Amino acid sequence: MKDIFRIAIDGPSGAGKSTIAKAVAKALSIDYIDTGAMYRAIGYKMDRDGIPFEEDESGVLKQMLDSTDIDFSDGNIILDGEIVNDVIRTPEVSMLASKCSALPSVRAKLVEIQRGMGMRKSVIMDGRDIGTNVLKDAEFKIYLTASAEERANRRFKELQEKGETQTYEEVLEDIKQRDYNDMTRELNPLCKADDAIEVDTTGHGIDEVVDTVLDIIRGLE
Ligand code: DC
Repeated sequence: MKDIFRIAIDGPSGAGKSTIAKAVAKALSIDYIDTGAMYRAIGYKMDRDGIPFEEDESGVLKQMLDSTDIDFSDGNIILDGEIVNDVIRTPEVSMLASKCSALPSVRAKLVEIQRGMGMRKSVIMDGRDIGTNVLKDAEFKIYLTASAEERANRRFKELQEKGETQTYEEVLEDIKQRDYNDMTRELNPLCKADDAIEVDTTGHGIDEVVDTVLDIIRGLE
């Protein structure tokens, strides 16, 4: 395998991208970059600071983006020096992330940071446009999917463990809405890169999927 290699993992919400990417990163001793967390951090900040979710003439959005710092350290996501791991994981912030991810200036800022992170070291990066846009020349590309019902079921269980009160039907509706937003937005919508390998995780456990992804990577060495 090359000294520096990049693995792109894309797919819809709840397909298991971050769980799988974290485990693969550990197995290969490389860094994991969760690009969804970056959109979540921006969506969270825009809402907190009352910034409208639109490209506007006033320059408020641009000013906010220019003065925002997003980084990862020891598995934490840091927004302007503050760890925001938990506050960005609510159903509300999921929707705000999906909303802000359609704004061209938000994408431009985050894609630039992400490309920088994938330049100097081996990484596994997950998101929606990694194989099609951010790391178009990644050595390995995986498109992870699962049925909407299975994804909703997984998310519902996670939320229940955290004490959130959404019903299964609400979670399924949210998943479908986010799929629609992410797949139909004008700029870099979610889609499988032509050279990505599709892995359907419906009915498969985490270990099984991690092994499948590692086999793909080792098989393509
Ligand atoms: O992976 P996630 O659920 O944490 O992502 C949150 C939202 O961010 C998702 O609905 C779409 C957006 N996103 C994106 O547009 N591009 C990426 N590379 C990653 C996430």
